[in-house]
Amino acid sequence: NKGKYEHYMQKEIHEQPESLKTTMRGRLIRGGSCKAKSVLLGGIKDHLKTIRRSRRIVFIGCGTSYNAALAARPILEELSGIPVTMEIASDLVDRQGPIYREDTTVFVSQSGETADTLQALEYALENGALCVGITNTVGSAIARNTHCGVHINAGCEIGVASTKAYTSQIVVMAMLALAIGDDTISSQARREAIIDGLFDLPKKVKEVLKLDQEMKDLAQLLIAEQSLLVFGRGYNYATALEGALKVKEVALMHSEGILAGEMKHGPLALVDETLPIVVIATRDACFSKQQSVIQQLHARKGRLIVMCTKGDAASVCVGGSCRVIEVPQVEDCLQPVINIVPLQLLAYHLTVLRGYNVDQPRNLAKSVTTQ
Ligand code: UD1
Ligand code: M6R
Repeated sequence: NKGKYEHYMQKEIHEQPESLKTTMRGRLIRGGSCKAKSVLLGGIKDHLKTIRRSRRIVFIGCGTSYNAALAARPILEELSGIPVTMEIASDLVDRQGPIYREDTTVFVSQSGETADTLQALEYALENGALCVGITNTVGSAIARNTHCGVHINAGCEIGVASTKAYTSQIVVMAMLALAIGDDTISSQARREAIIDGLFDLPKKVKEVLKLDQEMKDLAQLLIAEQSLLVFGRGYNYATALEGALKVKEVALMHSEGILAGEMKHGPLALVDETLPIVVIATRDACFSKQQSVIQQLHARKGRLIVMCTKGDAASVCVGGSCRVIEVPQVEDCLQPVINIVPLQLLAYHLTVLRGYNVDQPRNLAKSVTTQ
């Protein structure tokens, strides 16, 4: 049932304040006078000791689920102190990459039925790793065949383009990082700030959804373009990849997410006065580096659309010539949850304006159960 919405993708984008609440329900502990704020993930609490002892955490997934893991990687590394590596499921299987008994492998999959991810799971099980699932589908193959895991509880997602599952996956992996780091006193203040940020997140997502009309106007401007680049780094490298994936998947427009640190190693050659470029430059430790990326793109007459923190328009928009998307600020590691929303809206409106099928893009299936 689409309710008041025209398409499932639209409904699922606008549902995110609620789906995030459901994802967090019963899992955040407010703490009290003598008790610290904490996180309770029932599905992994008995395995936390093993996870903390592992030599490496390996995230494995495809498409949007891979991007969600990439968004959570920095906070997991920070709070666990364990090296976190990333694997696209098919590539791990193709390479038969090394997986050891001392590894914790984390399988991220909305459907829990993706063939590539399942094959990687089988491979990790054979190699004796601890296998943790993060899925939206109770009773799915990933949920059944992993040793333990967390259901993201985002509610059924029907649009082929994953939207609310992406933000819920990031939140679950941030909670996973909090749970693993829970025994470290030195990071307690940081963890409590993130937990406060999680409590506040649905409200902030509601706020960023107000950009709907602005994103529709932007889509109108981009309707006839051939290509769109999206630059991000740090916590928002994943946002760049995921924003570009949404645009190409539903709006059928070529789009590429680029790690801003790689700009001079090739992509800069593409920049001219015609190609639209989204630069994500919200406030975090990488902000000044992104400011200099903007300056360099500007010097090459790039057509810039800058996503920045509310109130920062003047400091990011050199020469006043770029378009700005202002978003509310949240805790740095949760910012990807906010920043993807305008890009989801942009992809949605671009698709509708270009007259394509939003919920079932050509050639794609919701769940890729064949290889
Ligand atoms: C569970 C209940 C929930 C209830 C709550 C009360 C289920 C599905 N969930 O939620 O209805 O409100 O207790 O405390 O009954 N698992 C995997 N692999 C995965 C995902 C999950 O093995 O990919 C396992 C978990 O290790 C766990 C079980 O499935 O044993 C349920 O996981 P989850 O729903 O995340 O647990 P709770 O949040 O505790
Ligand atoms: O169900 P899964 O999360 O395992 O699916 C993985 C990808 O097929 C999926 O995320 C795909 O990239 C989406 N259509 C993207 O919107």
